[in-house]
Amino acid sequence: MNYRDLFSCENKVAVVTGGAGLIGREIALGLYNFGAEVYVADINRANAEGILNEKTGFLQLDITSEDGINRAFSQAIREKGRIDIVVNCAYPRTEDWGEKFENIKFTSWKDNVNNHLGGIFLCCRSAAEQMKKQGGGVIINLASIYGISAPDFSIYEGTDMTMPAAYSAIKGGIITLTKYIAAYYGRHNVRANAISPGGIYDRQPEAFVKKYSAKTPLGRMGAPQEIVGAVIYLASEASSYVTGENLLIDGGWTAW
Ligand SMILES: NC(=O)c1ccc[n+]([C@@H]2O[C@H](COP(=O)([O-])OP(=O)(O)OC[C@H]3O[C@@H](n4cnc5c(N)ncnc54)[C@H](O)[C@@H]3O)[C@@H](O)[C@H]2O)c1
Repeated sequence: MNYRDLFSCENKVAVVTGGAGLIGREIALGLYNFGAEVYVADINRANAEGILNEKTGFLQLDITSEDGINRAFSQAIREKGRIDIVVNCAYPRTEDWGEKFENIKFTSWKDNVNNHLGGIFLCCRSAAEQMKKQGGGVIINLASIYGISAPDFSIYEGTDMTMPAAYSAIKGGIITLTKYIAAYYGRHNVRANAISPGGIYDRQPEAFVKKYSAKTPLGRMGAPQEIVGAVIYLASEASSYVTGENLLIDGGWTAW
């Protein structure tokens, strides 16, 4: 084995849902840099324009629509013959996302859980069934530190921010759903892993950034580019015996 090729994604077809977003676009770029043919699959085409090139196509995708997912995945299979890597970064949320716990409407809770966790379920099912047919593949789901631990609400004091309750339920669900898929499809050479980022800097209010950073061993928020290494690891042969794992990329947030 030539270990220099361990992280190669050459000759692989990758679909990045939510690939036009803050983290998804870096993941799409990273997979492309490591040799994959990449589809940016997103509900918002306009945001994807800057990242599309001759080896990076676009799939119009709404992860809340079963038919829409079938159409998008079928297009990729028609054009490339297979899908080797699916990274789920799509992040649907309702207009009223971000309400404090006591004000969350039940309809809003249901829509968010259904659209995000439900959408991940639909994407994973379509991806895994295709991968089973073709003899293998890799699924990577974006979860969060809040899928394994509760928010410290003191970091939101002095800002309008909070962490919605549905987020914890969705992200915890994504981590265990990922393990389920790993167990269910392992015999078919389909690996499924989650990545749980900590807070990514995106021009949040200064008061929040300061408090968040002080609570993190590395003393700062993350950058979207810092998620890419884990994706390449989990997408490539470098992690050929890793499945059902949840890899935390959080500057040590969950270490203490
Ligand atoms: N940003 C962070 O601090 C952070 C931290 C931990 C985990 N995460 C997770 O990482 C993932 C990506 O987050 P982000 O910060 O890049 O979000 P983002 O909002 O920047 O990007 C999300 C993308 O999803 C697309 N999208 C929304 N609804 C969709 C739908 N129904 N179908 C298809 N695409 C849809 C959007 O158009 C957007 O391009 C999410 O799962 C998020 O929970 C983010």
